[in-house]
Amino acid sequence: MQRFRFGIIGIGNIAPVHVAAIQGTPGGELVAIATRNPERGKAFADQHGAAWYADYRELLARSDIDAVTLCTPHDLHLPMTLAAAESGKHVLCEKPMALTVAECDEMIQACQRAGTTLGVVFQGRFEPLAVQLKAAFDTHQLGELVWVSANTVWYRSDEYYKSGPWRGTWAHEGGGVVINQAIHAIDLLQWLAGRPRRVTAKARTLHHSIEVEDAALALLEYPGGRLGLIQATTAAFPGSPERLEFYGTRGSVIYHKGQGRLEWHTVEPREDRVVEAAASSGAAAPMDLTASAHTAQFQDFVEAVRDTRPPRVDGREGRKSIELVEAIYRSARLDAPVELPLDRNVV
Ligand SMILES: NC(=O)c1ccc[n+]([C@@H]2O[C@H](COP(=O)([O-])OP(=O)(O)OC[C@H]3O[C@@H](n4cnc5c(N)ncnc54)[C@H](O)[C@@H]3O)[C@@H](O)[C@H]2O)c1
Repeated sequence: MQRFRFGIIGIGNIAPVHVAAIQGTPGGELVAIATRNPERGKAFADQHGAAWYADYRELLARSDIDAVTLCTPHDLHLPMTLAAAESGKHVLCEKPMALTVAECDEMIQACQRAGTTLGVVFQGRFEPLAVQLKAAFDTHQLGELVWVSANTVWYRSDEYYKSGPWRGTWAHEGGGVVINQAIHAIDLLQWLAGRPRRVTAKARTLHHSIEVEDAALALLEYPGGRLGLIQATTAAFPGSPERLEFYGTRGSVIYHKGQGRLEWHTVEPREDRVVEAAASSGAAAPMDLTASAHTAQFQDFVEAVRDTRPPRVDGREGRKSIELVEAIYRSARLDAPVELPLDRNVV
C-alpha cells in the first residue's frame, strides 16, 4: 500500500482522534506534529514516533509530508490553510472551516491555485445512519419537505470555556454554540434539506461569562414556503442528545443522532420503523466521541487525493454551513431577517 504521510497542526482535544483516523487509513502515517507547547508537543510526538515542531511553518517546509490536518482554534484555519497550500500540502481542516464565507473563499481559491486538495471535517456525514438518510433524501422518499429542525440543546461548563484562551471569543472562536457545537447539526440539515432562502435569528448569552452566544434560535424559510428551526445552546444542563427532524408530504424521519437511532414514519404504505447504530454524543462533554466516523472521512480524503477527485466534504461543502452560521449571526445582530445566498458586501 502506497504511504500517505500526515502532519497534524494543533495538539489539543481532537488531535488523538486524528491520530486514530490516520492509523485506520490504509497507508496512513503520522510523520510530524506542530504545537507551541514544548512539553505537550514532545510527549505527544514521542508517543506516536513523530517529529515535533513549535512553529507549524517548519512542519510545512518538510518535503516528506503529503497532507496536514488542522486541529487549531477557528481563526487559525484560514492562515494555516493558505500557508499549507503555498507549500504544496493537501489540507484536511477541522470544522468550522473558517469564521466567514469570505475566508472560506480565500481558502478554496488558494488550494485551487496550488493544485492541492482541501477537505473539511464533518464526520457526521460519514456516520452510517446519516449515509442512509442521504440516500433516502436523494430518492425523495419523504416527498416534499414541509418542516425541518436541528436541535443541539447541550451543556458546557464554565471550566470548558476557561480551558483555552480562544474559547468564548469572537476573535478566535468566531462565535459560540452556533459556530462550534451546533454546526454539526447545521451541516447535516443543509446537506439533507438544502439552503433556506431567509434566516431570522436571535442569539443570547444566557448562562456563561463569555462574550459570544451560548443560546440561539433561527427560523428558516425555504423556497416554496416550507419552514425550519435551529435550536442551539450550551446552557441547558445536563444536555440532550442532538436530534434532527424532517417532515415531508409522504412521511417523516427523526434522526436521533446523539442516540444512533432513525425513526421512520411513512404515509403509504403506513409504516413505522426504527433503525439503530452505534452512537456518540457531545451533549454533556466535548470529547464523548469515537474515531470511526473520522476514520471514514480520512479514508475518503486519501482516496480523493489519489484519484484526483474532490473529497466528499471539500471546501465548497465546508463553506455551506458557514454561510448559514454567518446569516444567523448577521440576523441576530441586525435584529432582522437575512436573505441567502449572502450578499458579501453587507456587513
Ligand atoms: N469534529 C469534531 O467533532 C471536533 C471535536 C472537537 C474539536 N473540533 C475542532 O478541532 C479544532 C481544535 O479544537 P480542540 O478542542 O482540539 O482545541 P484545543 O484548544 O484543545 O487545542 C487547540 C490546539 O491548537 C494549538 N495551537 C494554538 N495556536 C497554535 C499555533 N499558532 N500553532 C500550532 N498550534 C497551535 C494549541 O496549543 C492546542 O494544542 C477546532 O476547530 C474545533 O472546532 C472538532
